Amino acid sequence: MSLLFDSINIKGMKLNNRFVRSATHDGASEIDGRVSHYQKKLFGDLAAGGASLIVSGIAYVQEAGQLRPPQMSLHDDSMIPGLSELAKTVHTHGGKLAAQLFHAGRERSRFQPEKGPAPAPSVIPGDEFYDCEHREMSEDEIWETVAAYGDAARRCQEAGLDAVQVHNAHAYLLAQWLSPYSNRRQDQWGGSLDNRLRLVSEIYKDIRAKVGQDYPVLIKTGVADAFPGGLETAEGIAAAVKMARMGFDAVEVSQGLRGAMFAGAEFRPGIDSIDQEAYFREWAAEVKEKVEVPVMMVGGLRTFSLMEEVVAGGEADLVSLSRPLIREPGLVQRWRQDPSHQAACTSCNGCLLRLRDGKPLACALDASNGE
Ligand SMILES: Cc1cc2nc3c(=O)[nH]c(=O)nc-3n(C[C@H](O)[C@H](O)[C@H](O)COP(=O)(O)O)c2cc1C
Repeated sequence: MSLLFDSINIKGMKLNNRFVRSATHDGASEIDGRVSHYQKKLFGDLAAGGASLIVSGIAYVQEAGQLRPPQMSLHDDSMIPGLSELAKTVHTHGGKLAAQLFHAGRERSRFQPEKGPAPAPSVIPGDEFYDCEHREMSEDEIWETVAAYGDAARRCQEAGLDAVQVHNAHAYLLAQWLSPYSNRRQDQWGGSLDNRLRLVSEIYKDIRAKVGQDYPVLIKTGVADAFPGGLETAEGIAAAVKMARMGFDAVEVSQGLRGAMFAGAEFRPGIDSIDQEAYFREWAAEVKEKVEVPVMMVGGLRTFSLMEEVVAGGEADLVSLSRPLIREPGLVQRWRQDPSHQAACTSCNGCLLRLRDGKPLACALDASNGE
């Protein structure tokens, strides 16, 4: 049996294999953020399909951080019963469930301009990547946000989820905070790398204080922005290493801010040959070399033998997939029987277009969607 089917422990959370369902927004919760039947079916299929850890999509920790409804919420105790049912569904199939703790930051204005200027680290005059209304967060607001992350993690623990993952990547608040492009603050929250990391560090401490020492707290971090003048790789890797030292129990390596019009986004289209796969491989391998905690590689992983090579070569401990599991939720079981099976996902990003149009997560190529 392949080493991809070896178990692994993350802070006492035992995973049956090395396949993670990378966080994937499903636009399918109830409108108020509670877990829906659609989500229970989706997560049940993924767990039955063999992914050992399923990370939810972006789940907002406070109302100000909501991207766009319908979106999973962790902002209130009334969410706990639904989360608990979701965890039970995943556990029935032997899987583990983590919620992705999320705050949209300035990105909220792109989707909900009617809510007024969105909270952001700084206001950038003449920003060529972002022209929606946003405003600088006050000191009080920052501390409220810190506490909201801790409370959200506590709710996940109470609901019986196995872990949380802090979202520090892509376009959103914590990546905005880490990037020297979008964080121009002159106070203790901006400037040096340590100052730009202060928010995630305070968030980690608040979560830890509320969930205790034994609960797995993971992070997905962007190690470079997709445009010049943003976060550069060396600093992004140094930041990932500091996150592991803060106490995060596993690090998933992705990218930071996207460029204009989603240029250089983390979901690259048209992965149709093996040399286009694993597009963040070098970054993950470099982080893996420098940290003691498990590392997850994500980004265009499609071929079983390549993932085996990555884990056997010590470039990552786990492999994390999003789009291939939208196309084939049973892909990991399929690979268990036939490792030569090629993932059927064409990386067309039709799944993202569906979400943009307000439809729940599904593969656009799947005729059974009937749309
Ligand atoms: C439909 C869709 C929704 C996504 N939602 C999230 C999300 O909620 N949180 C996150 O960190 N990444 C999200 N991503 C990014 C994926 O987790 C992953 O990093 C990226 O798609 C690359 O992996 P893949 O080639 O296996 O799809 C999303 C990607 C897609 C296609």
